[in-house]
Amino acid sequence: MKKVLVTGGTGYIGSHTAVELLQNGYEVEIVDNLFNSKITVVDQIEKITGKRPVFHQVDLLDATQLDQIVANGHFDSVIHFAGLKAVGESVEKPLDYYRNNITGTVNLLESMKKNGVNEFIFSSSATVYGVQDSPEYIETMTTGANISSPYGRTKCFIEEIVKDYSVANPEFKAVLLRYFNPIGAHPSGLIGEDPNGIPNNLMPIIMRVMDGRIAKLQIYGDDYPTEDGTCRRDYIHVVDLAKGHMAALEHMQAGTQIFNLGSGKPSSVKEMIAAFEKASGEALPCEVGPRRAGDLPEFWANPSKAERELGWRTVLTIDDAMRDTINYLNKVKEN
Ligand code: NAD
Ligand code: UFG
Repeated sequence: MKKVLVTGGTGYIGSHTAVELLQNGYEVEIVDNLFNSKITVVDQIEKITGKRPVFHQVDLLDATQLDQIVANGHFDSVIHFAGLKAVGESVEKPLDYYRNNITGTVNLLESMKKNGVNEFIFSSSATVYGVQDSPEYIETMTTGANISSPYGRTKCFIEEIVKDYSVANPEFKAVLLRYFNPIGAHPSGLIGEDPNGIPNNLMPIIMRVMDGRIAKLQIYGDDYPTEDGTCRRDYIHVVDLAKGHMAALEHMQAGTQIFNLGSGKPSSVKEMIAAFEKASGEALPCEVGPRRAGDLPEFWANPSKAERELGWRTVLTIDDAMRDTINYLNKVKEN
């Protein structure tokens, strides 16, 4: 069975993927600098799977320490989640984002090259599509135009770096996974999304309204050209997303492959609020505010390539995600 290095493996998506890998017999080591996650996640992964991944608290910007981990690990594959991801912050601190995300990735690829590791999966984002004529995004669309933030541009640049590297190294097998909007938590309630600082995505904000840390949800505009006037996004349960990585790992081939990971079914902000209220049995305090700069009215994944080539598609719904999020929040409150 393969041995996998998971960068950013104590983070939200990385921890769920580490669980899937361990439950399917893969050996896992994690490297994370704990900038946006907690060491206790390693204990939770062990509680869920009965296996404790080796954990290295190391920054990808520290090339010497990273080299040591890669040299000693004898990894077959690397799944690279580590990165900064706050869109608004990236506008204020672009150089931090370029250094952390791009230099971190180049350090990782250099370490892999030195140590003969040739399988690489990267966390990309639907943000690379920018603005398109159609809201249904498909992998064949041209990317890179009208990207709304430095964060988004780091994803786009890294995609190009990976493509260039795989052209220069015929043995290299890369997969770029373009995530749509990950939500939800592990059904055990032991891991979920727990960002440090002030969240800016819809679900973490809803979670903070539920636990009382934020008074009410601001709906960013209800005058969009959608059925109920609020923006529509393709929300994907994080466990489905984690399984997408497993599917990619099982279908690695020379060159760079690109897949959307989404459900293909968009939901509006008002539909998300209704789903949350149905799952919690409580009204969610909210009010309609102005539009947020840069938001697109709607977009969603065309997920047919992943289904056709990886045999993967989403099976969980936004109702499942709401139930699992509430369960996770309740577990956090108990402890
Ligand atoms: P997260 O912040 O929960 O996890 C990222 C982890 O990387 C954190 O634990 C952080 O401490 C670590 N990290 C950051 N910089 C590092 C560095 N230089 N060295 C070592 N560790 C470092 O984020 P997430 O939601 O799990 O996202 C994982 C990846 O998926 C990110 O690359 C993100 O950009 C991408 N992505 C996320 C979303 C989303 O909405 N969550 C959507 C599309 C793409
Ligand atoms: N929203 C609100 N109120 C809030 C927060 C969000 O109404 O307090 C709305 C937004 O306007 C948007 C929807 O909820 O319509 C989802 O917003 P998020 O910020 O959760 O997600 P985005 O689709 O704007 O962006 C996310 C990630 C980006 C990524 C993008 C595409 O944050 O990193 O998906 O994958 F690039």
